[in-house]
Amino acid sequence: MGKDEPARARHVAIIMDGNGRWAKKRHLPRALGHQRGVEAVRRVVRGARELGLEALTLYAFSTENWRRPEEEVSDLMSLMKRFIVSDLDEFAEAGVRLKIIGDYRAFKSDVVELVEKAMARTAGNTGTTLAVALNYGSQDEIARAAAKAAAKGPVTPETISAELDTADLPPLDLLIRTSGEVRLSNFLLWQAAYAEMLFTDVLWPDFTAGHLKDALETFVSRERRYGGR
Ligand code: FPP
Repeated sequence: MGKDEPARARHVAIIMDGNGRWAKKRHLPRALGHQRGVEAVRRVVRGARELGLEALTLYAFSTENWRRPEEEVSDLMSLMKRFIVSDLDEFAEAGVRLKIIGDYRAFKSDVVELVEKAMARTAGNTGTTLAVALNYGSQDEIARAAAKAAAKGPVTPETISAELDTADLPPLDLLIRTSGEVRLSNFLLWQAAYAEMLFTDVLWPDFTAGHLKDALETFVSRERRYGGR
């Protein structure tokens, strides 16, 4: 990279928000909003690959999401399972490595088994890493990492970073949240220390690879503006 060339984003994370509002606007069931949300996931993962991102981290299920009605939680689980079953071949062939952050072992055994098989099958892939946050909470992740670091030796930002679920990913460059909400909601708090933030009114089911491309261009233009200081 030349001296004057701005850094390209290597790692983008997205808080996928607005599935419910997307469905409500159309008088459709929430489940359909989530279903369309999965289609957006598919588009954006393909886009991330084509744009050469090293890592894409998606907030699919937070530790707080358990408080939603049982039916919605179970809808989200079946969508997740169906997504893995239908898209795993494509990931495997396209060099995508699937990774999970968060305590996914709290899910039902069929989900855990499926996720572990998918991770094992794509473990050797060296293209884009798709990190899906499942039963993830950032404060919990930091507390776990700090405890592990303390058990090994001095607690410093570096030793904590090395124990985070994201330790093997490049530093987070850009964090996007859709649907007009302007909060981090316990997502990647540590990792966001130096990340750019982008909040868009687009509802997640309407988010396209084009929106991701625009976001990466915004990132580069911000780097260009501030990089020289
Ligand atoms: C936010 O919409 C979205 C979620 C809580 C779940 C995100 C899950 C998916 C897009 C599908 C499964 C994911 C993968 C990786 C296959 P909301 O229900 O909070 O929307 P609202 O705020 O408008 O009600």
